[in-house]
Amino acid sequence: MTKLIDGKKIAEEIMRDIKAKVTSLEQKPGLALLLVGDNPASLSYVRAKKRGCAATGIVSTLLEFPTALKESELLAKIEDLNQDPSINGILVQLPLPPHIDEKKVMLAIDPKKDVDGFHPLNVGKMLLGDSSGLLPCTPQGIKVLLEKSQIAVAGKHVVIIGRSNIVGKPLAAILMQKKPGCNATVTICHSRTENLLAIARSADILVAAIGSPHFVGPHMIKPGAVLIDVGINRANGKIVGDVDFEAALPIVSQITPVPGGVGPMTIAMLLQNTCKHRF
Ligand code: GUN
Repeated sequence: MTKLIDGKKIAEEIMRDIKAKVTSLEQKPGLALLLVGDNPASLSYVRAKKRGCAATGIVSTLLEFPTALKESELLAKIEDLNQDPSINGILVQLPLPPHIDEKKVMLAIDPKKDVDGFHPLNVGKMLLGDSSGLLPCTPQGIKVLLEKSQIAVAGKHVVIIGRSNIVGKPLAAILMQKKPGCNATVTICHSRTENLLAIARSADILVAAIGSPHFVGPHMIKPGAVLIDVGINRANGKIVGDVDFEAALPIVSQITPVPGGVGPMTIAMLLQNTCKHRF
């Protein structure tokens, strides 16, 4: 049996479902992708999101702005898109240049069009387990990946390394919920955690979301654990995860590859969020 969790294949299945539903809609869902500046990693993420739209029949508009864009201009553009009935989703790629206040930008997006799930209203709904909101794409993608791979989460010890607002914190909130596919016992570790090694080794499901290549080595993994690698790092012209994949493989029961694991699921969830209020 293969130990690989094939995120690409699972994401493609989800996208086929989305495409079938989108085909039946007269007015296609619309996603606006806003990119400020010329960060090459951001540009490649946004392009991958645009390709996902094209593959499912969602109409995407990529709006590219110079680094010097004024915060007020970005807020005005978001307000236009909030009012535009052809737009169902608004995504502002992060990080933004330092002169633009990310919090202000997230607050400006209509929560119904907040396909990243970063607006405080959606974050609040997520914490409360209110499913009327939009969930952040990477954490929700990990939940679905585990479900579709028939990996039991209920009662298991999930250890998440990384406390970001985009992955670590929301993933903990989602997996601890009293809902199907959840009910985990969750621990978050971060740069100030004492005994990180011992805590990581106690995980049934270990999630690496640190943004540091090969941070998770074989000494941190319990034999038979499931390993979810959220990292996308560029090292020597190659994309590598946060896990030393080759060293981890003999120890784990299942593992996500990078690329082809969590990344494609993030995009599938983004497309699902874009259609949430349309199907
Ligand atoms: N930058 C890194 N990850 C993300 C994401 O999921 N959404 C947005 N908007 N920016 C990001």
